[in-house]
Amino acid sequence: MGNVIKIEGGHKLKGSVHISGAKNATVALIPAAILANDSVVDIYGVPNISDVESLSILLKELGVDVTSPSSDHFQINTTNMKNKVLDHEAATKLRASYYFMGALLGKYKYVKMQMPGGCYLGPRPIDLHLKGFEALGANIEYHHGYYEISAEELTGAKIYLDVASVGATLNIMLAAVYAKGRTLIENAAKEPEIIDVATFLNKMGANIKGAGTSVITIDGVENLTGTPHEIIPDRIEAGTFIIMAAAMAEEVRVDNIIPQHLEALLSKLVEMGVDLELGSDYVIVRSGRELIATDIQTQPYPGFATDLQQPLTTLLTQATGQSMVRETIYTERFKHCAELQRMGANIIVGQGQALINGATPLYGAKVTATDLRCGASLVVAGLIADGVTTIHDSYHIDRGYDNLDTKLIELGAKIWREDVE
Ligand code: EPU
Repeated sequence: MGNVIKIEGGHKLKGSVHISGAKNATVALIPAAILANDSVVDIYGVPNISDVESLSILLKELGVDVTSPSSDHFQINTTNMKNKVLDHEAATKLRASYYFMGALLGKYKYVKMQMPGGCYLGPRPIDLHLKGFEALGANIEYHHGYYEISAEELTGAKIYLDVASVGATLNIMLAAVYAKGRTLIENAAKEPEIIDVATFLNKMGANIKGAGTSVITIDGVENLTGTPHEIIPDRIEAGTFIIMAAAMAEEVRVDNIIPQHLEALLSKLVEMGVDLELGSDYVIVRSGRELIATDIQTQPYPGFATDLQQPLTTLLTQATGQSMVRETIYTERFKHCAELQRMGANIIVGQGQALINGATPLYGAKVTATDLRCGASLVVAGLIADGVTTIHDSYHIDRGYDNLDTKLIELGAKIWREDVE
């Protein structure tokens, strides 16, 4: 049994939508919380997504008490925590389970766990994470699908990342907070989610400076304790709704955002002719003019986010002229294009790039969400298309979008779920 999402396209969107806490911050904050010794961490703004459910299972495996006093509030109590081999299948359901590597290594100097899972976007190595752990003094073994990482002692080190990787930056930060002395991460990733996790760790007692710049300094401390923390808004969820609105809005207000986190997307949309009104924590998108083709190139933050490349590709099918999308982070992240072609898009995919010829009308079809943001791009397409679109493997979408259907229904979309064999 599975679940499909169905969308009847062509309905205008109107009203306001509240953006949830950032998935890619949350999935690091939850493993980071276990660094607190014998105390309670309160995380607010937790999105209702299946990646969070998988992480909660892993917390429980470690003897950590997780309760949810209200829907977006998580209370994590580490008093009865014990280090244990993470062999639950939940670890293989998402990429971010690898943050338990850094956190458990940091806290216990030992971790054994399965390979992380997550969206297949082409090869996603973790060599930089491991190189960082080794630089801190850890020994790494890999047998039969399990990593076993151990250290007598972790000592601060200078680590240069060959690629400004979000995951490696965070994982090394988690491993280094209890290391002796100073760790320097050079060519660190600068994504807002990294600042959020560093802020959280500092509130727990860590000493991290420079998060948000390319050099992060971590001075090891001896004890971290619980703290309350509110997660930053999800810039990718926000971007996805802004793109949906750019395609189909009569007038849509996207609320609870940090507009600075979305600058690259917003400038591109303005260039395409989208009517935007920007406020301090919201953006209003109005229906308007004809959309004009544009070129984008994905880059690490503050460049154009790879996670918004797929939803934006759908919008580009509605723009007049030829657009070029260059993907520099995950050169194989183009599986959505074949699905969009089934719906009438004219896209030519090449090595690390796609050419989109628009505008083409889209029509409802049976398509498959091959990964999370491919799913988002198909939802955008379904809202635009003439007729009914059926999106298979919708579980990918539920990994990262909090109540997507409810939020869209409130905006006037016709979207529902059906069980299939
Ligand atoms: N890379 C390496 N070696 C490593 C780590 C990364 O070569 O050890 C390469 C990757 O192959 C990629 C580049 O470095 O070419 C950047 O990867 P990064 O490590 O920054 O990505 P990630 O941490 O695995 C996070 C998000 C992704 C998002 C990317 C890029 C989480 C859980 N995931 O992945 O989000 O696309 O950063 O911004 O934070 C999504 O939300 O749909 C998603 C895939």
